[in-house]
Amino acid sequence: MKKDVYILGVESSCDETSISIIKNGCTDVYTCILTQMDTHALYGGVVPEIASRMHTENITIVLEDVLNKSEIKIEDIDAIAVTYAPGLMGCLLVGLEFAKTLSLIYNKPLIGVNHIAGHIYANNLVEPIVFPSLGLVVSGGHTELIIMKGDYDFEVIGSTLDDAIGECYDKIARVLGFNYPGGPNIEKHAKEGKPTYDLPIPMNDDTFNFSYSGLKSYIINLVHNEKQRGNDIKIDDLAASFQKVAVDELIRKTKLAITKYGIKRLIVAGGVSANKYLRGELEAMCKELDVHLSVPPLKYCTDNAAMIAAAAYPLYKMGRFSSYNLNAKSQEYFFDKKE
Ligand code: KG4
Ligand code: ZN
Repeated sequence: MKKDVYILGVESSCDETSISIIKNGCTDVYTCILTQMDTHALYGGVVPEIASRMHTENITIVLEDVLNKSEIKIEDIDAIAVTYAPGLMGCLLVGLEFAKTLSLIYNKPLIGVNHIAGHIYANNLVEPIVFPSLGLVVSGGHTELIIMKGDYDFEVIGSTLDDAIGECYDKIARVLGFNYPGGPNIEKHAKEGKPTYDLPIPMNDDTFNFSYSGLKSYIINLVHNEKQRGNDIKIDDLAASFQKVAVDELIRKTKLAITKYGIKRLIVAGGVSANKYLRGELEAMCKELDVHLSVPPLKYCTDNAAMIAAAAYPLYKMGRFSSYNLNAKSQEYFFDKKE
């Protein structure tokens, strides 16, 4: 009988310390996520030095919780997976050294995982990814459309030329005076408003690329000018207007790619996929085009280690293990090359 494969995943690339045990790349045995959000909210954004220190304080507590609650002994784990890129350097190093130490002490293979691959493979925790699929990655650092031909066989057909969509949400939230994290707060205010502001459409062309810096600058200038003139800004309406323009452009480009490539399945990944307006618009588009839509549940949209262990499973099956030379990288576009 085929033996079950248990992978322990470690994620510490930004402000969540998370460890998870995943069975056969798809079943969440137990996941612990310790977020530092409340601490960073005091500063209006993630402070890298504080984040690294908090990972160091929290990571052993998180492991203890996972081993207690999952009732799986570390000796029974088949591999240790860890996010090594992209992310905040100091934060990545904490998780990476922790994972290497576990791997060495318990004599388990190490598997380095790209964080964005993690967001994509979060979908396997819901239903198996079927290839070919179109992937739409929307996170704090990425906005990409990719053709997924097979496991780790991905081709980028479009990406952001400047700011990522999540980054744009966060910066506009700050200008509108909302607390960190910006994305969920814009969503909340947008629900109370109407898209009454006339904003420029980002990158109004037929490529698969995105550009959000023009929209961002337009809103920053608009807010400053109105403030200088002593005019009131209808922040809920402005949040709704921004969200509509930003999401409409994602939908328009995704639709363009689906049509051009004759795609039948769409996979959405990354923190911004937690946005309910985006999820609703994607559902409507996929219904109209008769395309199968896969979006992870909210708990797997934002950073977590379950997605890292899930993304490690195809690498485990291919025998693509990492050596102890594996280093952290703040940037990496894994789609273009084999790890
Ligand atoms: O994927 P993620 O957790 O981190 C990266 O890998 O970058 O994404 C974080 C981004 C942040 O920019 C955050 O504001 C955004 O995802 N985000 C949202 C929502 N929840 C998180 N953006 C819009 N609406 C949301 N509900
Ligand atoms: Zn992420």
